[in-house]
Amino acid sequence: MSTVILGIETSCDETAAAIIDSDRNILAHHVYSQMKTHRAHGGVVPEIAARKHVEKIMPVIETCLDEAGLKPSQLTAFAATCGPGLIGGVMVGMMAAKGMAAALDKPFIAVNHLEAHVLTPRLTSNLEFPYLALLVSGGHTQFLAVESATTMHLLGTTRDDALGEAFDKSAKMMGLPYPGGPEIEKLALKSNDREKEKAYKLPRPFLGAKHADFSFSGLKTAMRQNIEAFPEGPIPETEAAALASAFQHCVVETIIDRCQYALELYKSHIGENCARLAVVGGVAANQYLAQQLADFSNTHNLTLDIAPPALCTDNGAMIAWAAHERYALGRVDTLDFKALPRWPLGKARKNG
Ligand code: KG4
Ligand code: ZN
Repeated sequence: MSTVILGIETSCDETAAAIIDSDRNILAHHVYSQMKTHRAHGGVVPEIAARKHVEKIMPVIETCLDEAGLKPSQLTAFAATCGPGLIGGVMVGMMAAKGMAAALDKPFIAVNHLEAHVLTPRLTSNLEFPYLALLVSGGHTQFLAVESATTMHLLGTTRDDALGEAFDKSAKMMGLPYPGGPEIEKLALKSNDREKEKAYKLPRPFLGAKHADFSFSGLKTAMRQNIEAFPEGPIPETEAAALASAFQHCVVETIIDRCQYALELYKSHIGENCARLAVVGGVAANQYLAQQLADFSNTHNLTLDIAPPALCTDNGAMIAWAAHERYALGRVDTLDFKALPRWPLGKARKNG
């Protein structure tokens, strides 16, 4: 008899839930995106996000139960993101899962949002341990050597902004709506003038450096300077497209460069050559990044694993899957588990 887990995700601006069984069947998957609400403010407003989560959490869970044709009592366990993230939102999802677990006397599983992103390729393609993970999201940019569901070594991280944040902030400066990542990607596709793109000088910090860290804050400043150089008013579309494309070339070149060194660090941690690269988090939905990583992986004999875009950005399925991994190891949590606004990967879990 397979186990069936409900996973809830409310750490940012998606109210999401999913029901998954231990055979990797996604029985239900529903995401209510608050994007439109936050667009008017140019970014996520934590207080508004928390209120929306309160409004949407039960309808989203009920939709999932209907879709799966299951009663809550037929589920094995209830899981939710308990951090890191915007604490008001995290509390909403966590309390919903704890409430159902308490009422039905079933296990509650506290999930680290980053761990869930990193484990997603094991849901979508049964990726085997160990692997090198590149986590690129709105709040994080990290390389991890993933040994097991509970053992992950941090190999490199951003020293300032996350990659998704660089996309979002640059897009905002260009007058594009939130979230900026997909907008920059769409705009860049309209550029066909490489010479025009090259005219935009954007920094590529740490190129060739013997570590796997990133820095994107200088890029944000350079983007602002380029944008301010335009006459006032909307940027002409051909120029905006060239700048968006220059931005993507810049960040992707940086990522590929850092991947080379991350492979070496991986080898020293895991003690073998890397065979598998998984790219996870919202920015992994970017098709230009995916193409360049595919070329890189071919050159280095790596199997590249990128989840479908809907499972790269925040969703309940990744939470339910991470909970399955923990449940299979006998790891469940008590109902006094505290929500953690900051919860770095690789650190011991705090409980109670
Ligand atoms: O993982 P995620 O959904 O939420 C966090 O945990 O942060 O990632 C959201 C980030 C946002 O910064 C968004 O702009 C970016 O992922 N993103 C993209 C694309 N789709 C989402 N960035 C570049 N290209 C995309 N297609
Ligand atoms: Zn995320």
